Amino acid sequence: MVMMMIMDEKSLHLLHLFVMLLLCMKPALGFNSGIEDADIRCIEKEREALVMIKQGLTDNYGHLSSWGNEDEKRDCCKWRGIKCSNQTGHVIMLDLHGPSSWDNFSTEPLRGNISPSMLELQHLIYLDLSYNDFGWNFIPMFIGHLTKLRYLDLSCANFTGTVPIQLGNLTSLQYLNLRSCNFFLNVENLEWLSQLSSLRHLDMTLLNLSRPVDWFQTINSLPSLSELRLRGCELSDVVPPSLSFVNSSTHLAILDLAANYLSSSIYNWLFNFSSSLVEVTYLITTYKV
Ligand SMILES: *[C@@H]1O[C@H](CO)[C@@H](O)[C@H](O)[C@H]1NC(C)=O
Ligand SMILES: *[C@@H]1O[C@H](CO)[C@@H](O)[C@H](O)[C@H]1NC(C)=O
Ligand SMILES: *[C@@H]1O[C@H](CO)[C@@H](O)[C@H](O)[C@H]1NC(C)=O
Ligand SMILES: *[C@@H]1O[C@H](CO)[C@@H](O)[C@H](O)[C@H]1NC(C)=O
Ligand SMILES: *[C@@H]1O[C@H](CO)[C@@H](O)[C@H](O)[C@H]1NC(C)=O
Ligand SMILES: *[C@@H]1O[C@H](CO)[C@@H](O)[C@H](O)[C@H]1NC(C)=O
Ligand SMILES: *[C@@H]1O[C@H](CO)[C@@H](O)[C@H](O)[C@H]1NC(C)=O
Repeated sequence: MVMMMIMDEKSLHLLHLFVMLLLCMKPALGFNSGIEDADIRCIEKEREALVMIKQGLTDNYGHLSSWGNEDEKRDCCKWRGIKCSNQTGHVIMLDLHGPSSWDNFSTEPLRGNISPSMLELQHLIYLDLSYNDFGWNFIPMFIGHLTKLRYLDLSCANFTGTVPIQLGNLTSLQYLNLRSCNFFLNVENLEWLSQLSSLRHLDMTLLNLSRPVDWFQTINSLPSLSELRLRGCELSDVVPPSLSFVNSSTHLAILDLAANYLSSSIYNWLFNFSSSLVEVTYLITTYKV
C-alpha cells in the first residue's frame, strides 16, 4: 500500500511537470489547440484499460460508442458511464448497467467477459455491472482487488458458480448487490461477508445460501446494516443458541426473508430484536410445520 501511494504521488508529480512543460513549449512549437488539451483529465493508463474492457464486450446497441481510441475521444472522463475525480483525474465510477426489464425493453445488454485490465482502475469507488449478460461466467475474483470500492452492483448479470470469497477484501463496501436472476449462483460459506463492516445495503436475493450454516451469525456481525434482502435463499431456521448471541443490527430497517424455509417464531423474535425495523417481508414464506 505504502509503495503504491508513493508511486502515485510520484507519477502525479511527473504528470504535473510534463503538463507544465507542454504548456511552456506550446507557443514555441506553434501548437494551436492548447485550450482543448488542457481540458483533458483522463489518465492514459486508465483510458487504455477501459479500451481493453470494451474490447472484451459485445456491444450491439452502441452503449459504448463514446469509448474509443480516436482523437476526439481522448478524454475518457467524458465517456458514457465514467466519472473521474475532479481532483486527481482518476476514474472513480464505472457504470455499465444493462437494461433492467422495467427500464427499457428496446435495447440489449452487454455480453462477453470482463477484462482483468479493470485492475488498472484502482481508484474506483463505484462499479455497476448489473443486468448484463456475462454468459454463465464466474464472478471474477480480481474484483476483490478493487479495494476502494464502496458501491458494487453485480445483480442479474447472468453469472454462475460460487461467489468469490475475495469480495471479503472490499472492506469499504457500503452497498453490495449480488441478486441473482438465474438461480445459478451460490455461496459456500459466508465468513468473508463478516469482514465488510461498513455494509449498509446487502441484497442476495435468489442466491442459494443453504450450505452456509452460519448465515444468521454473519448477518448479525454487520454493525451498519440497514437493508437486507435474502428472499428465496433456501434459508432454514437458525438454531436457538445463535439467537441468544444477538448483538448488533440495530440499524436494520428493511428486511426481506420471504420464500425461505423459516418458522414464524423467527419473525416474532425479529420484531423484538430491532426497534428500527420499518419493513419486513415474510408473507410468502413457506412456514415450517
Ligand atoms: C469536485 O466534485 C465534488 C463532488 O462531485 C464537488 O462537490 C466539488 O465542488 C468539485 N470540485 C471542483 C473543484 O470542481
Ligand atoms: C430505450 O432505449 C432506446 C435505445 O437505446 C432509447 O432511444 C430510448 O430513449 C430508451 N427509453 C427509455 C425509457 O429509457
Ligand atoms: C445466460 O448465459 C447463457 C450461456 O451463455 C445463455 O444461454 C443464456 O441465454 C443467458 N441468459 C440470460 C438471461 O441472458
Ligand atoms: C483477499 O482475500 C483472499 C481470500 O480471503 C486472501 O487470501 C488475500 O490475502 C486477500 N488479499 C488482499 C490483498 O487482501
Ligand atoms: C442449493 O444448494 C444445496 C446444497 O448445495 C442443494 O442441495 C440444492 O439443490 C440447491 N438448491 C437449488 C434450488 O439449486
Ligand atoms: C458482539 O459484540 C462484541 C463486541 O462488539 C463482539 O466481540 C462479538 O463478537 C459480537 N458477537 C456476535 C455474535 O456478533
Ligand atoms: C418479545 O418481547 C416481549 C416483551 O419483552 C417478551 O415477552 C417476548 O417473549 C419476546 N418475544 C420473543 C420471541 O423473544
